[in-house]
Amino acid sequence: MEIGTKPSSHTSNSLAGLIALVTGAGSGIGQATARALAAEGAWVITTELPDRLERAEATVAAIQAAGGEALSLVLDVRDLASVTGCVAAAARAGQGRLDILVNNAGINVRQPAFDVTEEAWDLVLDTNLKGLFFTAQAAGRLMRDQEPCGGSIINVASTMGLVGYYDRAAYCASKAGVVNVSRALAIEWAANAIRVNAVCPAFVETPLTRGLFENEAIKRDILERTPVGRLVAPEEVAAAVVFLAGPSARMITGAALTIDGGWTAI
Ligand SMILES: NC(=O)c1ccc[n+]([C@@H]2O[C@H](COP(=O)([O-])OP(=O)(O)OC[C@H]3O[C@@H](n4cnc5c(N)ncnc54)[C@H](O)[C@@H]3O)[C@@H](O)[C@H]2O)c1
Repeated sequence: MEIGTKPSSHTSNSLAGLIALVTGAGSGIGQATARALAAEGAWVITTELPDRLERAEATVAAIQAAGGEALSLVLDVRDLASVTGCVAAAARAGQGRLDILVNNAGINVRQPAFDVTEEAWDLVLDTNLKGLFFTAQAAGRLMRDQEPCGGSIINVASTMGLVGYYDRAAYCASKAGVVNVSRALAIEWAANAIRVNAVCPAFVETPLTRGLFENEAIKRDILERTPVGRLVAPEEVAAAVVFLAGPSARMITGAALTIDGGWTAI
């Protein structure tokens, strides 16, 4: 749909017939999101790092077992050739169309700010911000050039893109960058009917964080900061992504949607 056209009155958020690419979909939030998009009717392309491709394939098998359609591709977002190759392969698989990109792949290295190494800083920023931007750029070019043009890009940021937290200087910097680069892309690409939004979850129980919650002091600190008093479920992030991806959110672009049980409202 072109920007500025009259909105239709229907309220369905069906994704039937749409093609979605979800990075890092072999685990945690990415896996839950790929499954949720497929459950709404999207045809889902999952990606994983070369040495973890079997995890994306497991997500594909779960989607197919539920009656959905999906395939898996290799992607390392730190490698520009891998990014352009993956988006080109996704375009071929989707017969030239890509409607939804979920930029989910991400990493964290926990270090006190006094001890952050250059290697860890580069790994976190290259994955979470540089890789995310160039994946959005490759997908955005496809969305610009397809007929009709347009699409929805959802970047997985974090509450740590909005507020600080301990031992995560590089991660907080990367996620703040994700929030603001989403706004920059939203205003530049609105004319191409491409919406760009960020989601900002608080702590979600996934392989990225599971070890952390074994530390009772950290878990107590997290729960005390969360008015609703519990961790976020991956499916709750997935539901927000599905909403932003679909026609119900057609007037929403440049947003940073918190999924944090009130953490950042205090
Ligand atoms: N778990 C949380 O508490 C939480 C909270 C807020 C935001 N997030 C964000 O959500 C996203 C998903 O996190 P998760 O908790 O599901 O973590 P996860 O570790 O379970 O999944 C991350 C996925 O990204 C993939 N990945 C890592 N480096 C990659 C690279 N260079 N190229 C391509 N893929 C790569 C991994 O293989 C993995 O499948 C991340 O961006 C993370 O920062 C997580």
